[in-house]
Amino acid sequence: MSFHDVVVIGGGGAGLRAAIAVAETNPALRVAVISKVYPMRSHTVSAEGGAAAVAADDDTLDEHAYDTVSGSDWLCDQDAVEAFVAEAPRELLRLEHWGCPWSRQPDGRIAVRAFGGMKNRRTWFAADRTGFHLLHTLFQTALSYSDIVRYDEWYVTKILVDDGRAYGVVAIELSTGRIETITAGAVIVCTGGCGRVYPFTTNANIKTGDGMALAYRAGAALKDMEFVQYHPTGLPFTGILITEAARAEGGWLLNKDGYRYLQDYDLGTPSPTPVLRSMELGPRDRLSQAFVHELDKGRTIDTPYGPIVNLDLRHLGAKLIDAKLPFVRELCSKYQNIDPVKELVPVRPVVHYMMGGIHTGIRGETSLEGLYAAGEVACVSINGANRLGSNSLPECLVFGNRAGRAAAVHAGRYRHAVPPAIEAQGRDEVRRLTEDLTRHSEGHERIADIRTEMQATMENGAGIYRDGDSLAKAAEQLEELRSRYTHAAIDDHSTRFNTELIALLELGFMLDVAESIIACAHRREESRGAHQRTDFPARDDERFLAHSLVRRQPDGTSRVTYLPVTITRWPPGERVYGR
Ligand code: FUM
Repeated sequence: MSFHDVVVIGGGGAGLRAAIAVAETNPALRVAVISKVYPMRSHTVSAEGGAAAVAADDDTLDEHAYDTVSGSDWLCDQDAVEAFVAEAPRELLRLEHWGCPWSRQPDGRIAVRAFGGMKNRRTWFAADRTGFHLLHTLFQTALSYSDIVRYDEWYVTKILVDDGRAYGVVAIELSTGRIETITAGAVIVCTGGCGRVYPFTTNANIKTGDGMALAYRAGAALKDMEFVQYHPTGLPFTGILITEAARAEGGWLLNKDGYRYLQDYDLGTPSPTPVLRSMELGPRDRLSQAFVHELDKGRTIDTPYGPIVNLDLRHLGAKLIDAKLPFVRELCSKYQNIDPVKELVPVRPVVHYMMGGIHTGIRGETSLEGLYAAGEVACVSINGANRLGSNSLPECLVFGNRAGRAAAVHAGRYRHAVPPAIEAQGRDEVRRLTEDLTRHSEGHERIADIRTEMQATMENGAGIYRDGDSLAKAAEQLEELRSRYTHAAIDDHSTRFNTELIALLELGFMLDVAESIIACAHRREESRGAHQRTDFPARDDERFLAHSLVRRQPDGTSRVTYLPVTITRWPPGERVYGR
């Protein structure tokens, strides 16, 4: 058993920012960052288009807040949004001082680009490799703190909780199979989202909702899980992201007739140059919904990897593409064998981001004492029913920082002895994992089959559009998959890098997350943002201007309740784009 003052689970943008904040707040504290991959392989590395924060004189914090609130279809908490927009510029500047190479204007000022659903240009970028540079900057900064120790390639299986308070985790060292109890004064969950619950996603294989399920099993509530964001432009088959920046720089979306179809969906009229909040710069939920309507009208193109439309960048020219979208060109060439300078890019909506997550307050605190969360795994909530592109990187920074500071204060104040119940829980978890390995050695169901069926269940039951029947059917199918999961087979009995065991544990977590998405989606009888119910097509503020909270019951079932949304200055209104 080892002890650290603060344990951070996850080594991406939010996790590293949180660890740095702990070290800055109280240099006497020892921080551990536990990550199932080497931190530079965290999914933050693949963020592309940029990070939103007010930078220019003609933009204001209020406008950033309003765009975020209306983009969220009024489901975000406005106190959280106000804190977010105020702190985002400081965080991005801080990164600049730590070495982040933000792209610049010819006169040396920070360059900003437009992003979907925003009234002003406020997205800072480092070409179209923003996440890569941001993660490098945080990683090298974290390296300068000797009190931040890393557990690279360790997999957390349990958060230890006694009497409503978190005391640490149990984790497996992947290279040896050793299982260790790591106790702590505070635990911060920063494991990112759960896109892999769906079949087509921009998310890396590692995004299996581990942190959401760990917190849920530990007794914390998950919030707004029904809100799953589809990004309108993923490559077919691989799901690889073609950044919204491609549209911000002037890219067009064309249907099978070469027609800019977004003009038919109340998103403005075509213009050769991008118009803010119009057409291709509309919000992601509306653009993904427009794709489904084009599909229904027979105006998409069938491919072996499903229906697509085309993204046209040809008119931008090689010079602009190479300067501002070099990664788009590289991805298209490597994964689609096309050159966007000369050819159309096939795209389709793919699951990209989870608006829901672990329910937290504005300091990252959860309903369990000593347990914090930040980044995509958390729902604070600034994104409500639909996140605006480029708000998530600054969200990782602002709320990673806030959670780190709060956890440091908590850990510094309560240096409790670890109760015997926690030691016993650690031993039980070792026993459970060992028994699982033995039991699943005799299983007969393939992990990959269950995972593929779960993903299809989620796409069919809770995709861009859903209804009561599709959700009820998905709930039944998940129940059946859950029972098949108990018979999943493991053929690898080794202890070193047993990736099959990890795939099994990840699948268990994904099933928890999938069930919670379905449970919340079924209960919300309205359409709002990314949650579109064909049987309840209107937004219903009377009944559902509220966050859904889902908690695990002692018998393993879930229970959904509601929490009012915090409104400070912007009463609910109509979401209008393109006008
Ligand atoms: O399209 C993009 O570059 C994605 C950005 C985001 O999700 O914030």
